[in-house]
Order: sequence, then structure tokens, then C-alpha cells
Amino acid sequence: MARAHIELDKQAVIAPVNRRTFGSFVEHLGRCVYDGIYEPGHETANEDGFRLDVVELVKELGSTTIRYPGGNFVSGFRWEDSVGPRDKRPVRRDLAWRSIETNQVGLDEFARWLKLTDSELMLAVNLGTRGILEALDLLEYANHPSGTALSDLRIANGSPEPHNVRMWCLGNEMDGNWQTGFMSADDYGKLAARTAQAMKTAQPDLELVVCGSSGSGMPHFGDWERTVLEHSYEFVDYVSCHAYYQEYNGDLGSFLASSLDMDYFIDTVVATADHVGYKKRSSKKIMLSFDEWNVWYLHKSDEDGDNPDPAAAASAEWRHAPRLLEDVYSVADAVVVGNLLMTLLKHSDRVTSASLAQLVNVIAPIMTEPGGPAWRQTTFYPFSITSRLASGNVLRPVIESPTYDTARHGQASVIDAVATVDDDHAAVFLVNRDLTEPATVTIDVRSLGLARVTEAVTLADADPYAKNTLSEQNRVAPAPNDSAALADGVLTVTLPPVSWTAIALG
Ligand code: AHR
Repeated sequence: MARAHIELDKQAVIAPVNRRTFGSFVEHLGRCVYDGIYEPGHETANEDGFRLDVVELVKELGSTTIRYPGGNFVSGFRWEDSVGPRDKRPVRRDLAWRSIETNQVGLDEFARWLKLTDSELMLAVNLGTRGILEALDLLEYANHPSGTALSDLRIANGSPEPHNVRMWCLGNEMDGNWQTGFMSADDYGKLAARTAQAMKTAQPDLELVVCGSSGSGMPHFGDWERTVLEHSYEFVDYVSCHAYYQEYNGDLGSFLASSLDMDYFIDTVVATADHVGYKKRSSKKIMLSFDEWNVWYLHKSDEDGDNPDPAAAASAEWRHAPRLLEDVYSVADAVVVGNLLMTLLKHSDRVTSASLAQLVNVIAPIMTEPGGPAWRQTTFYPFSITSRLASGNVLRPVIESPTYDTARHGQASVIDAVATVDDDHAAVFLVNRDLTEPATVTIDVRSLGLARVTEAVTLADADPYAKNTLSEQNRVAPAPNDSAALADGVLTVTLPPVSWTAIALG
């Protein structure tokens, strides 16, 4: 049995827990919206056509900010199509996902859905095929109280109150050649700067996110961020990061250490943003919006390129709400998701917004069947439990753990952990990355001044590839970890192999 020890110091604060770390993402993609959150014929649907069983799961998930409506979708989207009387809305082709978009769900309906789920809207503007004027129009429609053409149109469309959207994405993945209207860093940086300047002239308290590289594997990663920020630094508040992880070629050890790559990614973007800031003699710090992250089985193998096969994609049929990107997640995937969320928390000083991509059916923690049930994927649990338990300040743990070698990420610690502490409670989140051995971890929590373990749960299974499916929706769920015990200021817990654990103290 492996052993590890963790020191927690209440004074070793990284930053406050930012609720926006627990954001998610709803794109008009596959069955995320249609036959996902929206299914008018479903027995739980409300008057807008939204499934209330899905709403309940979204609330339980504890997601906060929700990015909308894309993703790649946004780069061909005309927002005007999706407001006003539903029977007058045009049906369009969505080039990004080769789908038919009926526009039956748009900004006003989605804003109402967000109210049901207690979430904040983070809206993306189309800078792929549109520009400054359309972004300003959408801002006027969404946020201006009344008395102008577009705010009055919103009121006439049944939304008397402005939607008050604070966070806006200036396009999506504008560096990727799969993106409709993709650009060079220079062209995009200039367009983003001019759009941001105009939007902030209209409403100075907006929080604007400029697109970073669409992944750290892009050849221009780093250079793209530098160039884009050189143009836009004064006008924007965040730079975006996107990262998806998967197990390659049966190398579970590397996959379980994916958070090391996220660490490197964040450190690199922070260094690049600060470099531009120093050059500009600016006291302002650009924050990171990690607005797409998850496990996604995008590549069949290590050698795959970044893009879908264009010939195969171009010959596919145009369909409405096709089943796309419906990954079914295992225990190992959930351990990685839990660990990535821990990593985001550890960077709370600079990552102040994040979005799990995505929310329903499309690489999602929640799955649905038309006319049928909605259920939790394995990845639902580490997200919902962390969102519920993490509060107060994030602490920097000192971890003494055995290590192992990985092919993709070098040396990784077997145990990883993060902790948060509030006035009268604390939470510790841990993973055991060992493939076969349990680990006993001792955690010095004396400085927290808390006396009791109030909750201890572990997600694990004898089969790390166990999944929840339509026919077995509750095959995997967290179980109480009865080994967790607190005595003389030392918390001791045993972690099964390939597991994620949360312990709350009070
Ligand atoms: O989340 C799925 C897709 O991944 C998004 O549309 C895009 O931004 C990214 O490449």
C-alpha cells in the first residue's frame, strides 16, 4: 500500500474559491439543446419546452456560469434568427456541425432556462462571419433596458427585463482552420480589440474574453496569445483556454496524469499574458477563462490530427439534432475530470472562470433519451460534489507522495490533492492515480481548527472502465469512505486505486 502525507496551512491561501470555476457550456450542437435541455413533447417539459427533470440535474450538478450558444456553432450564427415568434424563425444550415438549426431555442428562451437553473449567462458573439456591428446589436438587445430599437424588440418578444449579461466571449477558437471564418493572430487580435472597445464604450462594466489558442498542442500556442493580447490587452479582461483529454492507446497511467498538462497550459498562458502586460507597462492582469475543458474521445489514436476527416464530414447528411460527441464516461474519466477541477481550483488566482464542456448529451455529465429518462454520467459526481463542498479560500497543499513515470507527462505524483477552507468548514479533494494499489494518506489539518469529518465519499470501482448507461444508469456512484478518520489534528484516509475522494470537515 502506498503512503502519502499532506500538510495544510490555513494561511497558505492561493485565492478565494471563485464560483465561476464551476461553469459549464451549452452549444447548439448535436442533442445538447434539442432533445437535451429542450424537448417540448417530454412529460416533464414546461411551457417553454424545457425538460424539468434535466433542470433538476443541472441544479444538482451545481454549475454556475453557462457559456452559450457555442463553440464552433457561433461562427455561423445570426442571433436575430433565434428571437421573436417561433413560427417565423428561419431554419438554417449550421456548417460547424453539419446540422439543421431550427432556431426554436434562442437567447430569450435560454435566459428563462438559466433562471430555472440559477445560472449566469456567458454569451459568445460571432466574430467568424460577422463583426462589430452585430456584436453591438446583440449587446443592445440583451442588455439595454428600453427605449431603443433592439431593447424594445426584446421587450416586444416577451423579455421586459434586460438579460444583464456581464461575460462575453469575442468569438470562438478563431485560430482553428475548422472554424468558419478562422483568422491569423494579427487579424483576430485587431478585430477583437475593436469589438471589445466598442462593446465597452456601450457598457464599461462588461467582462470580455479574447480567444486564446484552441489548444496547447497548436503549433502557434503562446505566439497566438502574445500577438492577440498585444492588440487587445487594454480592452479585454480574460484570455480563453480550451483543453480536452483522453486515454491514448491504453496508457491509463498517462491519462490519469492529464492535470499536469493543464498545469503547464495555465502557467504558459499566465506567463505570456504577463509578458505582454510588462511590455505595455500595464498594472492590469489578464485572467484566464478556461471555458472549454473535459475528457473527450476526439482522437482514435495518438497519431490523429486535430480535425475531423473533412471528406467524411462533408459527405454526412444534414440532420437536426444528430447524436454527436455522445461520449459515455468511465470511472477513470471521472477521476481525471475531478483532478482537472482540482487543478483549476489550484490556479484560482488566475483562472477565475471555467466551463466544463459541455452540459447535456454532448461530452456531458448529464445524458437524456427522447421521451425517456435523464441520468448522471460518472463525471457528474466529482463536479457536483466539488461545487457543493468547495468554499472560502483555496489552500496550497504540500504533498509528499510516491511518483510514477508517464509517457506523456513525465513524472507524476501518485496522490494529488487540493483543499478549501471557510469559516467553520473545510473540504479536501484527492485522487489516487495508482492503477492497482490503494494508498493511505495522512493530512495534517491542525491549522484548520476543525474537529469532525462531516462527509467522506469516494468514486471508484473494481473496473476503472465501469460506466453509467441508459440500461444501467446507476452502475457507478460515489460511496461513503468509512476509512476517513480525524484524530489529534491528523486526518487519515485510504484511497482505492484509480479513485477520486472528497472529505468535508466541520
Ligand atoms: O465542445 C465541442 C467543440 O470543441 C466546440 O464547439 C469547439 O469550440 C471546440 O473545438
